[in-house]
Amino acid sequence: MRLPRELAFSLLLPLTSLALPTLEADQIPLSSPASALVKNHTNVRPLVLWHGLGDSHSSPGMLKFANLIRDVHPGIFVHSIYIEENLDADQRAGFFGNVNEQLEGVSQQIAGIDELKHGFDAIGFSQGGQFLRAYVERYNSPSVHNLLTFGSQHMGVSDLPLCAPGDVLCQIARRAARFGVYSKYAQTNLIQAQYFRDPDQLSTYLEVNEFLASINNEVANAVNNTYADNLASLEHLVLILFSEDKTVVPKESSWFGSYEPKDEGAVALLPGAERPIIPMRLQPTYIADTFGLRTLDERGAVILEVCEGEHMRISEECWKPLVERFVGAPL
Ligand SMILES: *[C@@H]1O[C@H](CO)[C@@H](O)[C@H](O)[C@H]1NC(C)=O
Ligand SMILES: *[C@@H]1O[C@H](CO)[C@@H](O)[C@H](O)[C@H]1NC(C)=O
Repeated sequence: MRLPRELAFSLLLPLTSLALPTLEADQIPLSSPASALVKNHTNVRPLVLWHGLGDSHSSPGMLKFANLIRDVHPGIFVHSIYIEENLDADQRAGFFGNVNEQLEGVSQQIAGIDELKHGFDAIGFSQGGQFLRAYVERYNSPSVHNLLTFGSQHMGVSDLPLCAPGDVLCQIARRAARFGVYSKYAQTNLIQAQYFRDPDQLSTYLEVNEFLASINNEVANAVNNTYADNLASLEHLVLILFSEDKTVVPKESSWFGSYEPKDEGAVALLPGAERPIIPMRLQPTYIADTFGLRTLDERGAVILEVCEGEHMRISEECWKPLVERFVGAPL
């Protein structure tokens, strides 16, 4: 779930002098203290990024992407969300930790940045997308105008992400989660378990999950209307699905789709048959509008986009028109 090969030069390169949480225009590579670099950019609306799994706030891929955005919107202020300032620790925090606690810290981080205080647009890569959506629903102070999510898992995953060969962190997390994705341990310590939504164990998921089930307001007696009000306050929610995504299972999760739960007495699928997908507009939480998605959609504010290719292979044809249209509005 990292940034694509064309963006991430190589995560194996030594990441020297790059550990600045705030990415500043015309200061790449980042090599001096953030505070000394911060200038006021008042020409365009600022942008917040949240990286994906296996990546970190200032990886070469993230810095490159921030630079590409600055080419489109000169002078834009870009902040890259970090859980840890240290890049290795930040990468690890994408696998291990409690998302709800991480979000609390992120809300304080965002609130403490002067440039963001009048609101911002946000781009989430892969799991960073559902985390930013959670920021909008639970905090949104300062508020998000446009939220773009690339290959995110808005209805969770039904399988754990495949690990690249040699990705030890990922393999450890995957193995640990296998011992019980719905155990108390996994649900509070393994990030991917906190958006693991197994259609064959929906009742267990609804009982123990405190992240995805919460932000999707799936638990009937725990619906929080603030989430709906905040989500519906977005100008646009842009959901990007990768046509060949094999990392996100099912890939339709990027558009709020999920596998149909297995009903008692359901006819078994023929071998090799695709399991049916419940699309966004037929999801019970959409129909009941529990978290504001339907309100947004009926206003024409949910934009469903497809980018060609595997998970997070973000080509220029994919990102550029979206960044031109939804990022960097003049102030
Ligand atoms: C930047 O903005 C802050 C408040 O928004 C202000 O206090 C400060 O003087 C500004 N700095 C510059 C260099 O304009
Ligand atoms: C609903 O969410 C808001 C925003 O996160 C929070 O302040 C509030 O305490 C929540 N309400 C309940 C009943 O949990």
